[in-house]
Amino acid sequence: MFFIKRKIYSTRQISGFLAKSCRCFSDSVRLVNIKNKIKEGPGLKEFIEHSAEPVLLDRPRIPYLSNNILDTSKRKVYFDVYGCQMNLSDTDIVWSILKKEGFEKTEVEEEADIFLVMTCAIRENAETKIWHRLDHLRGFKRRRELSKNKLRPVKIGLLGCMAERLKEKLIEKEKAVDVVAGPDSYRDLPRLLALTESGQTAVNVLLSLDETYADVVPVRLNQDSVSAFISIMRGCDNMCTYCIVPFTRGRERSRPVASIVDEVRQLADQGVKEVTLLGQNVNSYRDISEHTEKDETKLTEGFKTVYKSKTGGLRFADLLDKVSSVNPEMRIRFTAAHPKDFPDEVLQIISERSNICKLLHLPAQSGSSAVLQRMRRGYTRDAYLSLVEHARSTIPGVGLSTDMICGFCGETEEEFQETLSLMEIVDYNVAFLFSYSMREKTTAYRRYKDDVPEEVKRDRHYRMIELYRRKCQILNEAEIGNTHLVLVEGSAKKTGQIMGRNEMYLKVLFDQSEILSEDGGRRKAKPGDYVAVKIVGARSSVLNGVPLFHSSVREFYRDVGWGERTKLRV
Ligand code: 5AD
Ligand code: SF4
Repeated sequence: MFFIKRKIYSTRQISGFLAKSCRCFSDSVRLVNIKNKIKEGPGLKEFIEHSAEPVLLDRPRIPYLSNNILDTSKRKVYFDVYGCQMNLSDTDIVWSILKKEGFEKTEVEEEADIFLVMTCAIRENAETKIWHRLDHLRGFKRRRELSKNKLRPVKIGLLGCMAERLKEKLIEKEKAVDVVAGPDSYRDLPRLLALTESGQTAVNVLLSLDETYADVVPVRLNQDSVSAFISIMRGCDNMCTYCIVPFTRGRERSRPVASIVDEVRQLADQGVKEVTLLGQNVNSYRDISEHTEKDETKLTEGFKTVYKSKTGGLRFADLLDKVSSVNPEMRIRFTAAHPKDFPDEVLQIISERSNICKLLHLPAQSGSSAVLQRMRRGYTRDAYLSLVEHARSTIPGVGLSTDMICGFCGETEEEFQETLSLMEIVDYNVAFLFSYSMREKTTAYRRYKDDVPEEVKRDRHYRMIELYRRKCQILNEAEIGNTHLVLVEGSAKKTGQIMGRNEMYLKVLFDQSEILSEDGGRRKAKPGDYVAVKIVGARSSVLNGVPLFHSSVREFYRDVGWGERTKLRV
């Protein structure tokens, strides 16, 4: 009643009203009971905080709603995941939380009661896609309301990075969704969903300083996959001027080593053969729950950081050591790493362990020192190139990948040419190439002008892609005749051939046939197998090969060191 009238009454006023309306009750004992109940009920504070609709829950618990409002009665959830690998990993966390509460999962829209859209806000085109999807879902919801199935109303929940950024627009202006949950409030989802049962819209976008979901054992949406993602940390403290991530995902915090190692062990037991450790900046990982004497991070010469280095605790090299020791047959990958803190210990352990993939993600973002400074990346072009040289001398044959942005505020043609020349020099095996998209809240939004015209951005983007493809073609052709260790994932949709990935995460296709197995017999390749494949053809994004024999990581690299692996000719 108090919410409908949108007025706030004190408990004394409420008991006054009740007293008046209870005059007709001859039984005064009942009145006393009611008064007592009111005294025990919520105070004025709770009503003031949550008086306006929609109910904005900026904290995980609502003191006066008991847990028994949750009636999940086998409602079916349909997940839509957009954006980065971190979103895939977060969806596994969300699914674990909901499954425990009795929800079910479906991959068929018609069966769904709840649509949960895991969103990305990093660039405008990512958001545009999600708005289109929400339009579709709203149409679906309306059709359900009008159909004979109306007793099963559809609820739409928006999760992830768009949640914090767009909460008002989503609810008040667009009335697009029933639930909005930010990256740190997934534990609250069952309660938020329960609130929607009475027609309310529920929001929790509070960012946390310590939430890492360390105790939530993720349940993989894709149980058949031979690879899995593990979030080792959340948030980012770097504040690159173009990036919205620190605002949507909050401050950087690391998950304890022990819980990560446990998860890797469980995944290994389930037959997973490859894990990718995820964070916005994995090499600033620190498990401060473990006390050590270790010093603070020493940045490589030529690199600086905007935040105070953390001290003590276990660091990324320690984590890599422990994770790669769980099962020497499990491939370990990691992303993303900021070039500013790539300590020798990390490079050393990568070079020593045959199951840590020799592919370093060193996102340069630009090849121009002036642009890097405007981006607040904390390094110059020369410092970046020295790091590349150092990594290549420590880990011979190491592959490199990058992210590049063209058309950042004030970028001149000469500055863009420096990005192209960096790509020419470094020979990246993998590159993610973006056209700059101005985001509200970022430093660039406040300080600079998004002054590179759209058509110039498009043209530069196209030129980056052209160069990248040309370089990849050359790099890949050089692999013809070499033998790669390929982890089989399944079969290629178009050709029906077997598809797997090599150490550089490049797709390798080959025809199915019976090949020599470890026990001396012959058998076909299946998902999860490691197969030695001789490369016979190359395009810019895929290699073609001939399968030679089944192998293991240890066997494959036993006789040849990593640097020699591409020379292995059988
Ligand atoms: N515009 C274009 N690309 C961006 N990235 C981050 N913010 C933006 C933006 N505003 C890119 C960076 C980052 C990757 C994940 O996305 O290259 O490394
Ligand atoms: Fe964004 Fe920079 Fe943090 Fe990467 S390191 S998430 S680009 S702020």
